[in-house]
Amino acid sequence: MYETIRLESHDRLAIVYFSRPDKLNAMNATVFRELSACLRRIESGEDLAEVVILTGDGRAFVAGADIDNYVTMTLAEFSAFQRLGRGVMEQIERLPQPVIAAVNGYALGGGFEIALACDVIIAAENAKFGLPEAKLALLPGGGGTQRLPRLVGPYVAKRLIFSGELIDARRAYELKLVTEITAPGEALNAAMTLAEKILANGPLAVRLAKRLINEGLEASLATALSFEMDATAHLFMSEDKAEGIQAFKDKRPPQFKGR
Ligand code: COA
Repeated sequence: MYETIRLESHDRLAIVYFSRPDKLNAMNATVFRELSACLRRIESGEDLAEVVILTGDGRAFVAGADIDNYVTMTLAEFSAFQRLGRGVMEQIERLPQPVIAAVNGYALGGGFEIALACDVIIAAENAKFGLPEAKLALLPGGGGTQRLPRLVGPYVAKRLIFSGELIDARRAYELKLVTEITAPGEALNAAMTLAEKILANGPLAVRLAKRLINEGLEASLATALSFEMDATAHLFMSEDKAEGIQAFKDKRPPQFKGR
């Protein structure tokens, strides 16, 4: 159904693979369009997915925008391509379900920016992250100059963007970008293990936590705390909360319905 990505639907888990391995999964407009359509489908609830994993086929997560595209692109086409990419990053951030990036190799340029838009990054020890656009006399256009300094501070972000140098999984862990480092080839399995833990929890609570954290970081602490108060009150009235409490009392696993 897609040319450049693959969607695997497991029980309440959607795994989306970037799948242009001959090009280290470099992204062209088709990748962005297909990923956007796939995320819309996941958001619609058609696959009943409550957690999403993004990963790459072959030896890369995504090695950035497809540089071959840039050879003949006009400025209008380039701007449209950038807008498309930025829209997809925002779609990932705003997707109600949590999105885990399982980074198995190169996450460069737009590939790093995709990972930065995800909620959790898990990386194999041989993964490499970087924003090498300046080597092409370009800049990260998918939020890299804005999301990265907000996450790691301006000094580290400037160093990485000015130099285009790559960092390994261990450095990304030290910078608090990556939450778990796995053996080579194990990032997806580790992401699936984390997904199972998330899937055992109340889906409304998980969705609200994502929204509260993302929107709260954009607001003042007082405003964000009042969002949190409203959200917890909303959950307190949910069917799932009654089931969670009852299951605890009955010493059995809860059966949440997302209501
Ligand atoms: N766009 C288009 N093609 C790309 C690509 C990209 N961003 N990244 C890799 N490829 C292609 C290579 O051209 C090569 O194709 P070929 O076999 O037809 O020559 C293939 O993927 C394998 O890449 P290769 O460079 O041979 O692998 P490597 O292990 O030697 O190097 C990288 C890996 C990631 C260091 C190197 O490919 C690279 O620097 N890629 C560009 C990264 C980048 O600048 N991204 C930001 C773009 S704005």
